[in-house]
Amino acid sequence: MSIKFDEKNKVFFLNTKNTEYQIKINEYGMLIHSYYGGSVGYTDMSFLIKYLDRGFSSNPFESRGNRGLSADTLPSEYSTYGAADFRVSALMTVAENGSRTCDLRYIGHEITNEKYKIEGLPYVRGEKDKVDTLRIDLLDDHIGIRVSLYYGVFEEKDIITRHTAITNVSDADIYITKAASMCMDIPYGDCDMIHFHGRHAMERLTERTALTHDIHVVGSRRGMSSHHNNPFVIICDRDATEISGNCYGVMLMYSGNHKEEIEVDQANSIRVVSGIGDDDFNWKLAGGGSFDTPEAILAFSAEGLNTLSFLYHRIIRENVCPAAFRDVKRPVLLNNWEGTYFDFDEKKIMEIEDGAAQIGCEMLVLDDGWFGVRNSDNAGLGDWKVNLKKLPGGLKAVADHANSLGMKFGLWFEPEMVNEDSDLYRSHPDWVLMDPGRKPVMGRNQMVLDMSNKEVVDYLFESIKSVLTGANIEYVKWDFNRSMSNVYSKAHSAAEQQEITHRFILGTYDLLTRLTTAFPNVMFEGCAGGGGRFDAGMMFFSPQIWCSDNTDAINRLKIQKGTSYGYPVSTVGSHISASPNHQNGREVPIATRAIVAMSGTFGYELDPAKLTDGEKESIRSQIKAYNRFYELIGKGRYFRLSSERDEAYFSSWEFASEDGKEALVNIVVTDVRANAEVLFVKLHGLRPEAEYTADYVYSSVEELNNKTPDLVCTGASLMNGGLSIGPLYGVYPSIQLHLNEKR
Ligand code: DGJ
Repeated sequence: MSIKFDEKNKVFFLNTKNTEYQIKINEYGMLIHSYYGGSVGYTDMSFLIKYLDRGFSSNPFESRGNRGLSADTLPSEYSTYGAADFRVSALMTVAENGSRTCDLRYIGHEITNEKYKIEGLPYVRGEKDKVDTLRIDLLDDHIGIRVSLYYGVFEEKDIITRHTAITNVSDADIYITKAASMCMDIPYGDCDMIHFHGRHAMERLTERTALTHDIHVVGSRRGMSSHHNNPFVIICDRDATEISGNCYGVMLMYSGNHKEEIEVDQANSIRVVSGIGDDDFNWKLAGGGSFDTPEAILAFSAEGLNTLSFLYHRIIRENVCPAAFRDVKRPVLLNNWEGTYFDFDEKKIMEIEDGAAQIGCEMLVLDDGWFGVRNSDNAGLGDWKVNLKKLPGGLKAVADHANSLGMKFGLWFEPEMVNEDSDLYRSHPDWVLMDPGRKPVMGRNQMVLDMSNKEVVDYLFESIKSVLTGANIEYVKWDFNRSMSNVYSKAHSAAEQQEITHRFILGTYDLLTRLTTAFPNVMFEGCAGGGGRFDAGMMFFSPQIWCSDNTDAINRLKIQKGTSYGYPVSTVGSHISASPNHQNGREVPIATRAIVAMSGTFGYELDPAKLTDGEKESIRSQIKAYNRFYELIGKGRYFRLSSERDEAYFSSWEFASEDGKEALVNIVVTDVRANAEVLFVKLHGLRPEAEYTADYVYSSVEELNNKTPDLVCTGASLMNGGLSIGPLYGVYPSIQLHLNEKR
């Protein structure tokens, strides 16, 4: 059992292979966070806490003689508002009489040997792992609020999940104005915070900031987890690197408004609170009612950022993404979007299918424009019926044609949206989120459907179901192309309006649950104008997500690097598109485009008719190589190799098989220089004593292509000394090298 309770000292120990998490109940029943970090062998770490009388830090009534005990200075497991913890609150409530104080005390706990589930929300699945659950119940008996803190302990995977359930045990209504999923206090640390910010087509850029005495807030108010701030933060030692130092990760498994607050307090303690964004949130909890927060996934590494990433990669791949697609080879696909945009008909799609099959693609994805009167983004969303003018044989004809060429067929949808110019909007104008009497704020000429209204969810289920049963569709790309505004639901009362952004996400999760249950063999790929909902919540339904609308390989290096801190390569939708690139006009050699796109769920996003014979030939060999290294890329351990200084010159990363017998090393030069420096990288994850040779080289530099270097090196020399390559010259030159243990 990974969870123990020391009855005498009232300490909970949550132990994973390399980490330990401790919670203590003090003499007044307050729940104290006493430790999270490397294993300490069940030593009660509460000896670290000092009870100092700090001016203006008040004391609970029961302990008023003890001025050293204050909610304001104790590390808390779940902070509340009003009872003198002046730091960031995890929970804020308003009682019927207007009182905003909530003060929780321990009332009981339960330890079970399976992973808890959360009704209506995604969660980390227990699968075949050994997972134990701790539930601690807290009560404010004055207002009648019970808070149950859930901890899922994945012993072998070094992961702890958290989730909070809030129950109104009184007869009166209580309003929850903030309900975070977790709160954690790190008693001391000279720390940095890393978060992943960005914008449409430039998502998840890495930003590292020194924590100062302040509250650092990351979040989204767009109704989606957003391109702008991913719901994932890392707190690490100021000198932590990829391979050393203490790092904590907090990832919220949620696709809507979120908020991560990191506060350094008067005594240098760091508080991290993460959960649903509370800026426009007010949930009415009637007597007896319960509210479930989304789950948060916590990890700790004492060995730097690469190890922290590995812990997230493994848990997401094995326990978050749907099991049905974990071990199945994903098809190399060709998506027609950048090849045609809206301008296609049946003949053109069949020609693209012919071309895709010739170059070795395994699936054709028909993107936006196949339904309603969708000839531009002005019309058609909501009308999920095939446009017979464009596709006279219906979807069946194009799907059958793909199948006849040995390829699967996939289809694009954007279920949660509607155009003003659509039959759906004309017949149900009340189904959109819209303030009464106001003109709508438009985004990409579309409005947001009211997913908090069950009638809307039912309509979408039936109409998507009928499309999916009408042809052999084996893949769905699920898009979402605007931020939410005018959030007002006509299906709910005035008092419920600040519940709508969360109810919306619950409606989306409900629709996804119903569709993935009805079509268990259809693979769903997430998308929100690229990576606007690149989060663990969506990954519960879709094992891969279109990472960004930006397909430029050089921009993608930054986007995919930022993404790699929290999310595995098997979730990263990544395609080769035409050169010059459609988003920024840059020309990049096809080998470099391939090396970057291979670090994801590989595919193409172009019109094969426009390829030269030479390009077709390279594509055939790229697909062959991708399929050869599929397991290594998808399941191998991922290491970021290039340092911050290197990144000004080149970017490098590696996949190493779990047994350390092989590795794929990738280098892309982003700033070619005259009289250039050698490209040095130190490898990871190899067997120190084993000898390695290179048996595959792919490069944009023609002379290097297919010429395996005469290299026999031990794992120890490659990890301690490194590889020296190049310098490489030319336009964005790159090299990919496969190292194999000598037999
Ligand atoms: C945004 C997506 O990210 C693109 O890949 C494409 O599907 C378009 N939407 C279609 O409208």
